[in-house]
This record gives sequence, C-alpha cells and structure tokens, in this order.
Amino acid sequence: MIRKAVIPAAGFGTRFLPLTKAQPKEMLPIVDTPTIQLVVEEAVESGITDILMVIGKSKRAIEEHFDRNFELEQELAEKGKTDLLDQIRHVSEMADIHFIWQKELNGLGDAVSYARSHVGNEPFALLLGDTILESHSGVPVTKQLMDVSEKYQGSVVALEEVPVEKVNRYGIMDGTDQGEGVYRVSDFIEKPEPDQAPSNLAFAGRYVFMPDIFDFLVQTGRGKNNEIQLTDAMRQMAQSRPMFGARIDGKRHDIGNTLDFIKTNIHYALKHPELKGPLSDYIKALVGTLP
Ligand code: G1P
Repeated sequence: MIRKAVIPAAGFGTRFLPLTKAQPKEMLPIVDTPTIQLVVEEAVESGITDILMVIGKSKRAIEEHFDRNFELEQELAEKGKTDLLDQIRHVSEMADIHFIWQKELNGLGDAVSYARSHVGNEPFALLLGDTILESHSGVPVTKQLMDVSEKYQGSVVALEEVPVEKVNRYGIMDGTDQGEGVYRVSDFIEKPEPDQAPSNLAFAGRYVFMPDIFDFLVQTGRGKNNEIQLTDAMRQMAQSRPMFGARIDGKRHDIGNTLDFIKTNIHYALKHPELKGPLSDYIKALVGTLP
C-alpha cells in the first residue's frame, strides 16, 4: 500500500513570465481551482495520505493555500456561506502536507532527491505539480500506476503517446510490450530529437518508485540542460531493476505553456455546470468572427 507522494513544484515557470515572477505557476487556475490542488486531489483519490511538496523561492502561496485561513473561515461562517466554507476547509484537511525547500534549482532529479529522508524506505508516488491528468475510466492515473506496480513488482512511469515531432519535450521510453498497455523498460532518454527517439511513448508526469531510486539519484551527474535529470537516474535503475511503463487511461493537460494552459481552461470550463452554457454561446459567436 503506497501512502506517500512527492510533488515537485520548484521550477521558475519562465514560460509564464512576467506572471510567475512573484507567484508559482502551480497556482495557476483551472477555472477556479489552482492546478496543484487538482494534483493533490488525484493523489488523495489514489489513497495517498502523506504528501511532501518540494518548493523553491516565490512558492509561499502554495503553502498558504494548503494551510487553514481562520479569518476567511470565520467570515464565511458569519455570512452563512457554508458551501464555500466546506470547500476551503477541505483543501487544508485532504492529507498531511509537508514542505521542503530545494535550495538551488538543479533539475527534477535534484528536487526528487530532497524527498529521501521524508519518504524513507517505502515505495512512493511522484506527481509533477504542473500537469493535470484527467482519467477516462474514473480511476485516477496515480492509482492506475500503483496497480501496475503492485502487479509487476517494480517502479512504473506513466506513458502517453505523443506526435513524433514533440518527443523532444519529454522523457521517452524504450521497451517491450507486455500487453494491457504495460511495457518492460530497457532504456529511457530525456528529450531526444525525433530521429534519435526509440518510441513516441512519453512520460506523462506521474511515477511510482521503489525507494532505491534515491541510490541512483545520488550517483547521477548533470545531464540535459546541465541539470540533474530524473530520467538519467531511471535509466541507470532500469539496467539492474525491473522497471515498467504504463500507458495511461486518460489525457494529459500540461499547464507548463500558455497555449495548453488556455486550452485546458476552456476544456474544463465547458464541463462546468454554470459556465458551459454561456461559454459555448460565446465561443459560437466568436467562431463566426474568425477569419
Ligand atoms: C519533465 C521531465 C520529462 C517529462 C516531463 C513531463 O520535463 O524531465 O521527462 O516527460 O516533465 O511533463 P519538464 O517538463 O520539467 O522539462
């Protein structure tokens, strides 16, 4: 039973500057909810009870979001806004949430290595704080990975097929098909050029790791973009341990770039009970004015 999750949320968010100068990209809203809250909800719905967030400078809003806000609670209680009161209490009660500061931004692998003493000697889930995974089946994607990890007894990375011209944005897997969307991994490569990519199966921002990933991270030097890459540690691990990839039953919404962020908001707003009607009308009228 996996109880602990790690959520790295320390990057600068340079693609969203100037917005992210003083506020974290993980707090960007999906309609009315910060992205990172949706990530925490996925973890909690997968059975996680303990979450460590690895944060950096300008990320205090994340801490405050998951803390209680007594003044606001009192205000809502006095005004009888019990629905809102329940909602904001729920945010701070979902799980035991802990924070650790990544002192220098040396890459995703470095961020994950900060979790070692908190995680200890148990398997854990890793969820990237800037990616939402919308499950198609209703089973949260992190839970899908946990089930594969339990069945195959190894670490598992979530995979999503991407167009070949986009493989250089992601970690890419090489491996053999075991059936049911599960692959036994022989190698990984971080952001290859299309002609060097062994497949078009890309990491989708969710992982389940056996704790020995930390032993491999310690030995990992700087790689792509002069950063300590999680993918390089995984690559070493795959040489001596069973590692698996699992195609997700769901869709990735990557909010790390502006266009996908806007599309994600439209996607979720069109599912929102009060917004979908007026927004559809607006889009239909807009389409008529497009060149
Ligand atoms: C990171 C990982 C990459 C993964 C991606 C998923 O890259 O290094 O392997 O495919 O997240 O979103 P980043 O987007 O931080 O550059």
